[in-house]
Amino acid sequence: MDKLQTYLTKAQDALKNFYTKKGRKGVVGIAAISLGLLYLQYQIRKHNGWLQKKSVRDEHIFITGGASGIGRNMALRFAKLGAKISIVDINEIALDKVIKEINSQFGDKTATGTVCDVSDPKSVKNAIQLCVNFHMKTIDILINNAGVVSGKQILNNTEESICRSININTTAHHWTVREVLRDMIQNKHGHIVTIASIAGWVGVRGLADYCASKFGAVGFDESLRFELRATKSNVKTTCICPYFINTGMFDGAKSKFPLLFPILSENYASQRIVNAVLQEETVVIMPIILNFAIMVKAIFPTSIYDNMMEFFGVSESMDHFKGRTQSS
Ligand SMILES: NC(=O)c1ccc[n+]([C@@H]2O[C@H](COP(=O)([O-])OP(=O)(O)OC[C@H]3O[C@@H](n4cnc5c(N)ncnc54)[C@H](O)[C@@H]3O)[C@@H](O)[C@H]2O)c1
Repeated sequence: MDKLQTYLTKAQDALKNFYTKKGRKGVVGIAAISLGLLYLQYQIRKHNGWLQKKSVRDEHIFITGGASGIGRNMALRFAKLGAKISIVDINEIALDKVIKEINSQFGDKTATGTVCDVSDPKSVKNAIQLCVNFHMKTIDILINNAGVVSGKQILNNTEESICRSININTTAHHWTVREVLRDMIQNKHGHIVTIASIAGWVGVRGLADYCASKFGAVGFDESLRFELRATKSNVKTTCICPYFINTGMFDGAKSKFPLLFPILSENYASQRIVNAVLQEETVVIMPIILNFAIMVKAIFPTSIYDNMMEFFGVSESMDHFKGRTQSS
């Protein structure tokens, strides 16, 4: 009883103090620290995949460009979680190989796929129809992952290669989404994942066509999200914006401060994306520190942002770019 009395007196004092300048400062300070700690623990849990996750067992997951790199890696991870996998790619040999790999590990009819050029709407339509017929199920999760990079500066690039980047990395997202969205809305269930890039937020020397295409992909995802929100749709979206990943696509690209901005491993990036899908995250920038660049760009004058990007070597990161070779 005595203890309760003391506690009530203390609470009364604190409230009285709230009306003094010192008291207010104390309360605001404690509230700010508590909010900061709450945010930090949420970020740590999210980053490590410790938030509540949805099940993808028996879900039909359609992955473009899934014959290699993070697409292949994600396909294997989702298959392990019990999903039915469809993969489309232009690389027939690698595609057959990954389908066989998944089916031998997780059961005969776990994965299917077909050769498809995602920049061709007819090819996309046919491929989706084939996969839906195979699994006898409309698509639950679409992962727009297929991508290309030229790595050429504007005047050294060709018309063909510039159009290819935009068509595959951005326009193709319209073709796939337009094929699956009606069913998802009707089923009140679905998830559209955009594999964009941090190059969809910051410009880089030597990546004009790639950055234009990835800024487009980020914009596509955001517009889609707002369309879905306006109708209170149950269909989810996730936009993934990674820094360089060691899949071979960006071979030769360099990070000036690898401790701050590490080149991500294929396994880490794929696991992080799978967790982001299962946790239904909306936008993922990785590594997390790159949110800082986006914040500086939004708040400070352009000259400060430009100098910062040059200091951190972002503008020179493509100077030794080689890209994918036969061996990578
Ligand atoms: N590797 C990185 O550093 C990095 C960084 C940020 C974002 N990304 C993005 O991640 C995605 C996957 O990249 P990755 O690193 O796994 O590269 P990757 O080259 O291993 O995979 C890309 C796949 O897309 C396929 N593809 C290309 N054109 C296609 C087309 N027209 N139709 C169908 N398939 C096609 C390729 O055959 C390949 O299998 C891409 O969208 C890429 O832009 C990669």
